[in-house]
Amino acid sequence: MNINGHHFRTIWPDPENKQNICIIDQRQLPHQFVIETLTCLGDSIKAIKDMHVRGAGLIGATAGFGMYLAAINAPDHAVNEKLEQAAILLNMSRPTARNLGWAVARVLTAVKKIDGEAEKKQAAYKTACEIADEDAAFCKQIGLHGLDLIAAISREKKGEPVNILTHCNAGWLAFVDHGSATAPIYAARDAGIAVHVWVDETRPWNQGAKLTAWELQQEGIANTLITDNTGGHLMQNGMVDLVIVGSDRTTRAGDVANKIGTYLKALAAHDNNIPFYVALPSSTFDWELEDGAKIPIEQRSGDEITSISGMNDTTGKIETVRLVAIGTQAVNYSFDVTPARLISGLITERGIVQANKEAIHALFPDKKITDSRITMTTSTEHRHFIRKNSLHLLDYLIIDKDGLQTTYSMGRTLDVSENGLKLETTQKISKGDTLLITVGLENDLVDLRGEVVHTEIVDERYISGIEFQDIPAEGKRIFKKYAEAFRSMNTNNT
Ligand code: MRU
Repeated sequence: MNINGHHFRTIWPDPENKQNICIIDQRQLPHQFVIETLTCLGDSIKAIKDMHVRGAGLIGATAGFGMYLAAINAPDHAVNEKLEQAAILLNMSRPTARNLGWAVARVLTAVKKIDGEAEKKQAAYKTACEIADEDAAFCKQIGLHGLDLIAAISREKKGEPVNILTHCNAGWLAFVDHGSATAPIYAARDAGIAVHVWVDETRPWNQGAKLTAWELQQEGIANTLITDNTGGHLMQNGMVDLVIVGSDRTTRAGDVANKIGTYLKALAAHDNNIPFYVALPSSTFDWELEDGAKIPIEQRSGDEITSISGMNDTTGKIETVRLVAIGTQAVNYSFDVTPARLISGLITERGIVQANKEAIHALFPDKKITDSRITMTTSTEHRHFIRKNSLHLLDYLIIDKDGLQTTYSMGRTLDVSENGLKLETTQKISKGDTLLITVGLENDLVDLRGEVVHTEIVDERYISGIEFQDIPAEGKRIFKKYAEAFRSMNTNNT
């Protein structure tokens, strides 16, 4: 992708010193183009969590390099151990994009396979670079497959511009290069096809307004910014020929989690008979998940809704202003799930595929499709399925004091000690409740029974302290690992 005529990727090792990883601080765009250097795991976690980098592919690539930075900063005798801790911390940094856990696991597996400390560090570097290169190459392929769709519409319209609506930023900035939703647009431009893009502003973080519009402008693609509520009207009036969006996590049956508001666009496209495509590299598939309702949905701070930032043209500074009355409460779900039935097709690096289990499996026969659910029987003999999950979210099951009412929900871990954990949930858990919790890394799971010993409400979130009874040896081992990772994060030793 070109910025003022110069080609950039969104992440790259500094050619002068490979121990430094360069990124573009996307919080400053489009007003300032700031290159930031990551030198340790903590920098990478912060960059992902605070959205200096964002977008599924780039989150994955940054996590890959984060593992590399953890490896080179690890004492020689403890590379595996430090990388296991790094995996825990990175996995907790943002929950929805599948590429994050995928990239972390890929580096961890590559390093663990190799003997010799220097060789392990080299393997971490090589794997992180491969993840980034592959991301760019796959997006390029997505572009070539998606080009056929745009070319067909252009032929039907006898060369009139093809109007494409996109949501959020699934562009170059969300990946390492090319983007997913934008790659077919760039390929169409290169093929001499006239295109025009409707850019949803994408409240509240405004990825569309701040990033996609700027990115398309840099590439010389005609585009028009619209509010998030405008798409339906445009579709009803024949002003949209095609919708292409990205994905943060796609189930093996084709349900798609993408930026909040995507589902509404899919509904409007369906009602108006407009093709709705999702562009994604295969690193975004969650092969363990079938049902989109089980995708972890990130909730971010309400501050992103109640205030807005932008350039003050008088002072030349980026400023944040409050939009609402003091005390206004806001809830900020960052993603929603579009069911496969509303999706015309998935544009992947291997081709365009229908959004259903059979078609996806036929295109990716080499991907291991596993059913990750673990069956648990509670004391009230209800059977529940607890999904294997990555570490930032622990699935849990509440059994009330009388052992009657059971609920399935998800929470976010705030802290872990060797005997318990502190959990943040949107659902009330009371002192004395019993929780059944599955903890662990992907292939390293253990089911634990814990009692809620402490509850408090902070900013309308329920915070609960849970202590576990009869932790088996395997559970103790996993807990120790978590506790050490949390401690290292809290003491800023990462
Ligand atoms: O919160 P973000 O900016 O990381 O979310 C990114 C998205 O949801 C985009 O819509 C994109 O389509 C998916 S990332 C390739």
